[in-house]
Amino acid sequence: MTASRRVVAAGYGGPENLEVHEVVLGEPGSGQVRVSVRAAGVNPADVKSYRNQGDPSRLPLPLGYEASGVVTAVGPEASVSVGDEVIVFRTSGAYATDLVVDESTLTPKPEGLDWPEAAGLLLAGATAVHTLEATGVAAGDTVLVHGAAGGVGLNAVQLAPLRGARVIATAGERNHDLLRELGAEPVRYGDGLADRVRALAPDGVDAALDLVGTDEAMDVSLELVADRDRIASIANFDRGPREGIRLLGGGPGADAGDELRMAARPELARLAGAGDLRVLVAATYPLSEAADAHRQIATGHTTGKIVLLP
Ligand SMILES: NC(=O)c1ccc[n+]([C@@H]2O[C@H](COP(=O)([O-])OP(=O)(O)OC[C@H]3O[C@@H](n4cnc5c(N)ncnc54)[C@H](OP(=O)(O)O)[C@@H]3O)[C@@H](O)[C@H]2O)c1
Repeated sequence: MTASRRVVAAGYGGPENLEVHEVVLGEPGSGQVRVSVRAAGVNPADVKSYRNQGDPSRLPLPLGYEASGVVTAVGPEASVSVGDEVIVFRTSGAYATDLVVDESTLTPKPEGLDWPEAAGLLLAGATAVHTLEATGVAAGDTVLVHGAAGGVGLNAVQLAPLRGARVIATAGERNHDLLRELGAEPVRYGDGLADRVRALAPDGVDAALDLVGTDEAMDVSLELVADRDRIASIANFDRGPREGIRLLGGGPGADAGDELRMAARPELARLAGAGDLRVLVAATYPLSEAADAHRQIATGHTTGKIVLLP
């Protein structure tokens, strides 16, 4: 038995509902391992999971889908060993000091990544892979990425050129130098976006990825991309189902893509470990300050990943 501290939503609403609770973990069973968490990735979905009133019987709600850490115990027939450095994704309740998880959620942590980078890699990275696969991005394509400076966006911006595509990336002005450094052509979002993109790509845009969920991202994508199968959204669950585009993720009418996302893990780890995919960590917070981390991610203007340190 091991005591673990974990962050939960004790009620529905804002980050003031977050509390640190102590729980006792059982020994890992067959196919399970215990992991001592070194870092846990924060995602907008964590905030959304308790923002609206929900079923009171689900409280307290464990938070967090991804972490990095060290294996501290293994169940029968485990194929990993105590001391192995791993990334855990996808699990639930990753905002914790210790976790017992299925071995199937583990990816070996590449040596080239530190703990926060490793914790922030896979949810955003696998989502980005899903958007590129769903829209068939390939060599010679020009791709418009809305929300390019966010956790998912920075992955899409780096992964699309590895497929031979050119990236036009929307972001606030302060993120343009970073996007240029990553090989993308940044444009400011807001009024006149379609014209600014046309000026950069007079021959047209082949695919668009809406990673922000605004009406502008949807409207400009529909205006500039002829084939709706080559427009993906991970965030506009209001209009996505009506517009005939590829709606991706866990929501009504969306393609969850679980298998594809899980299959993307080894290659994402390889690319990141080799330095071919950068994980940009915007800030780290102690586990006990998860509420502040949630206030930050909820601004919708974080550049890169927010990570919690137990
Ligand atoms: N369906 C799925 O499977 C799935 C998976 C992961 C994430 N998501 C969703 O996808 C969205 C993005 O996730 P994330 O982790 O990348 O979020 P994030 O890290 O918080 O990034 C948000 C980014 O959006 C940009 N942004 C804000 N307003 C914008 C606008 N009007 N136009 C263009 N860009 C704008 C910001 O850039 P500036 O600072 O430059 O404004 C910021 O970098 C969230 O809604 C999240 O819940 C869905």
